[in-house]
Amino acid sequence: MSEKYGIVYSSKTGNTKKLAIYLSQLLSSSAKLYYEIPDYVPKHSILFLGFGIDKGTCSVELQKFMQRLHHQTIILFGTCGFSNEVRYHNLLIDNVSKNLAADNTVLDYFMCQGEISIQFKEKYEKALLLNPDDPKMLASLKIYQESIGHPNSEDMDHFREFVFQNI
Ligand SMILES: Cc1cc2nc3c(=O)[nH]c(=O)nc-3n(C[C@H](O)[C@H](O)[C@H](O)COP(=O)(O)O)c2cc1C
Repeated sequence: MSEKYGIVYSSKTGNTKKLAIYLSQLLSSSAKLYYEIPDYVPKHSILFLGFGIDKGTCSVELQKFMQRLHHQTIILFGTCGFSNEVRYHNLLIDNVSKNLAADNTVLDYFMCQGEISIQFKEKYEKALLLNPDDPKMLASLKIYQESIGHPNSEDMDHFREFVFQNI
């Protein structure tokens, strides 16, 4: 491959796809964006791996791809819905990174809030009908509302800063 950077991502509801497309625009002709997870390991100096969090980790498809990587230099980026706290992000990154062999090098990672899909709102509201004061469900509904529109332009600005710090 002639491009210095490769971008492989898995995005079920399109949030991380927004970051991946923005990244490919930032890196322009020096990057190759893979619209599907390749069934081979592409050769680039740096591989960006993007993911939306699904039950605490990345998709099974991306996990399988990551498990095939060796001696790669990698930058991780992802979106999650349930918390925007650094501690939670670190936990998720640990879970995702478990799929990488020790001979790979992870240069850095970026996580930000992604919009939570509406199915969760419906679940929270249903639970609140039964128990209107349920603090857990009230907090979840609040996070759902805060998540709407993410990743937003501020997230994108942070992502751009992150990218240019690392390349
Ligand atoms: C089935 C499912 C499971 C999810 N699990 C989590 C989770 O464990 N933790 C979290 O913070 N967000 C979770 N989310 C929210 C997503 O991580 C969030 O919406 C993310 O931005 C989705 O990215 P994507 O559109 O690129 O797939 C989940 C969403 C779905 C649909």
